Amino acid sequence: MGARLEVSAVLLDTFGRRAVDLRVSLTDRCNLRCTYCMPEQGLSWLAKPTLLTDEEIVRLVRIAVTRLGVREVRFTGGEPLLRPGLVGIVGACAALDPRPELSLTTNGIGLARTASALREAGLDRINVSLDTLDPETFQQLSRRNRHHEVLAGLDAARTTGLAPIKVNTVLMRGINDHEAPELLAWCLDRGYEQRFIEQMPLDPQHGWDRATMVTAQEILDRLRTRFTLTPEPAERRGSAPAERWLVDGGPARVGVIASVTRPFCRACDRTRLTADGQVRTCLFATEETDLRAALREGDDETTDARIAELWRTAMWGKKAGGGIGDPTFRQPDRPMSAIGG
Ligand code: 5AD
Ligand code: SF4
Repeated sequence: MGARLEVSAVLLDTFGRRAVDLRVSLTDRCNLRCTYCMPEQGLSWLAKPTLLTDEEIVRLVRIAVTRLGVREVRFTGGEPLLRPGLVGIVGACAALDPRPELSLTTNGIGLARTASALREAGLDRINVSLDTLDPETFQQLSRRNRHHEVLAGLDAARTTGLAPIKVNTVLMRGINDHEAPELLAWCLDRGYEQRFIEQMPLDPQHGWDRATMVTAQEILDRLRTRFTLTPEPAERRGSAPAERWLVDGGPARVGVIASVTRPFCRACDRTRLTADGQVRTCLFATEETDLRAALREGDDETTDARIAELWRTAMWGKKAGGGIGDPTFRQPDRPMSAIGG
């Protein structure tokens, strides 16, 4: 039933934006401990009974797609590959009508085992995080010695034919920032599209500092020591957060996500769902709207309509921007791992 939705039924906010891109965090757990995302230890996990079941997740995605005009669903975490039901969730979402575009953001660990099943289940696109080519630097950044597993995961994704494969990289000053050109060369060799992401203040240590953050401008300057970058025409960007450059004349491209120095909030088309069933309007939102309680009250049309209404109301309250630059900025209580990238 590809029924057209009334304008009033979609996810609008008071700034005229419409959310069509849903990010679903499938778990707050992770097998790495990247310093910009998670603490070394002492983070308490979401309690099992508060986590949505696979069926509940698929039901919320169905509501988003059929009642709220969501067109794209990205699964994140924590690490989404740690969710045992992932392939089933992807398959069930691929069977929805209208079928949303399905993508996954993963650290790549375990992908070697699951890439082909995910592709068969209907996964369209994949983003793999890789910050370094050096196993020791990987250990320093992620506090785990699992670099080889990430590389194996990326290889498997490529062999399976999942395309395009995007590689996400966060540069940390004095740790991996010197690797930018080398990482890009490595990605180009393998046909991956690399995107550098400015580090955002989402680290649990609250150690983020604008003054030492590696900026988009700096990243571009570093890349230009080895490559010629020409901006991709702006009309290709749309609501995508990455600004893209053709590398050495193209067709290969590199993206830079300047979340801090050039925030893209005005074009934001996202809505987020945490693993425990809370709608977040923004990575940096300090409020959430609970859908889990409503979800567990009943499994019928009326309840679904009520959940859709709660979701619309939540999005209507979306703020103009993340506010990283405001003097009153406060980091959200949840770390990145529990929000979903
Ligand atoms: N700033 C920027 N990017 C981050 N990620 C995780 N934490 C941060 C942060 N504080 C990235 C990961 C991954 C994606 C989900 O988000 O590297 O690629
Ligand atoms: Fe895990 Fe990704 Fe956070 Fe690293 S950035 S700890 S891989 S969720």
